[in-house]
Amino acid sequence: MNVLVIGSGGREHSIVKKLTKSSQVTTIFAAPGNGGIELDATCVPIEDTEVDQLVTFAKQNRIDWTIVGPEVPLLAGVVNAFKSEGLNVFGPTKQAALIEGSKDFAKAIMKKYRIPTADYQTFTDVDEARKYIEQQGVPIVVKADGLAAGKGVVVATSLNEAIEAVESMLVDNQFGEAGNRVVIEEFLAGKEFSLMAFVEGEDVYPLMPARDHKRAFDGDLGPNTGGMGAFSPVPDLQQKDIDFAVEKILKPTAKGMIAEGRPFSGILYAGLIETEQGPKVIEFNARLGDPETQVVLPLLKNDLIQVIIDVTSGKDPELVWEDAYCIGTVVASKGYPAEYSKEIALPELPKSKDCFIIHAGTGRDQFGNFHSVGGRVLLVGSMDKKREVAQKNIYDYLKAFDRDDSFFYRTDIGLNKKK
Ligand code: AMP
Ligand code: GLY
Repeated sequence: MNVLVIGSGGREHSIVKKLTKSSQVTTIFAAPGNGGIELDATCVPIEDTEVDQLVTFAKQNRIDWTIVGPEVPLLAGVVNAFKSEGLNVFGPTKQAALIEGSKDFAKAIMKKYRIPTADYQTFTDVDEARKYIEQQGVPIVVKADGLAAGKGVVVATSLNEAIEAVESMLVDNQFGEAGNRVVIEEFLAGKEFSLMAFVEGEDVYPLMPARDHKRAFDGDLGPNTGGMGAFSPVPDLQQKDIDFAVEKILKPTAKGMIAEGRPFSGILYAGLIETEQGPKVIEFNARLGDPETQVVLPLLKNDLIQVIIDVTSGKDPELVWEDAYCIGTVVASKGYPAEYSKEIALPELPKSKDCFIIHAGTGRDQFGNFHSVGGRVLLVGSMDKKREVAQKNIYDYLKAFDRDDSFFYRTDIGLNKKK
């Protein structure tokens, strides 16, 4: 089979690496891919939102399956375009991807189908929003309705902070159209986890739960980022909480999407928080999480392409998991998530039997040397039956980055402290 992976981040490199292990996959293309993906696949210079070019490429190169990584092409209708040409593609249509594309839509679905989540209201008017915030008090959470690359959420601890967040979205248009509506919701306290599932209509097959580390610095301090590391499974989670999340959150959401005329096919991602009343939804995504994918896919024993074929044809893929822990620590450019320099040469990345390297923001020159092109540069991961061993492997490897203060990483990924 020829497979095309759309996207250019760590998640897509992880998908590509998993596909290299399939005996059914002969050729892998990535559009546009990144410096590290070039080692495992053929990268083609088509951006992930150039829908017509992607369709043409898939036809000309006899692509048997296309897997869409990021949310932006999903919401741009890449799946709709592939399906209308009769091409096999894994991911939701833009109508179903709205569960990620509009927080107001996602909240309305949760309300209608009684899926546990924070109380909320949606506003387009600043004065009404201000009144609501003053009524509710703090802490309170302000969210831009649309896609904001993970930056559209403010957990406000003062009334001023909450109102400023609303004003920056509704008045100053900080997020453009994505911030023309704001969702204001109740603050929930608890540990977070991510539960992703293969979904086809009503069928839901959960993956191993994972925990992302969203804050930039050790101890969950500093600004929110796209994710500084992750681990899977999550030792403090009880099986009853996972079952609850599958039965009371993922399955009713999949059913609700059918009832709304937007049947979901692809990966449904629930960002959850363990409250005293059980897990509640913080957000839904319509795709694999990044960096969760980088630690969950190595634990999956099945052939990924076979799983996709089975799920989309209504068959149980019978997922089988390694009995081990997988941890991944992100190396980021100094300054990320704010301003940072690019084109910094990476240290040598020796092959290791204990660690795997997943590239995110890297480029590769004609001599095969890597340099940084993004905020999150790469992830060093390790899998072992003992969490402590996986962790030691990673931090031994990461010493290579200590000589250069152009990069930083968190030193506490996988310790399973609070959050
Ligand atoms: P999101 O971009 O929706 O994943 O939100 C970013 C982060 O904001 C989450 O990982 C949570 O830590 C926090 N957050 C979002 N919604 C809430 C909420 N209702 N209560 C507490 N924290 C929240
Ligand atoms: N790791 C969070 C996300 O993928 O949205």
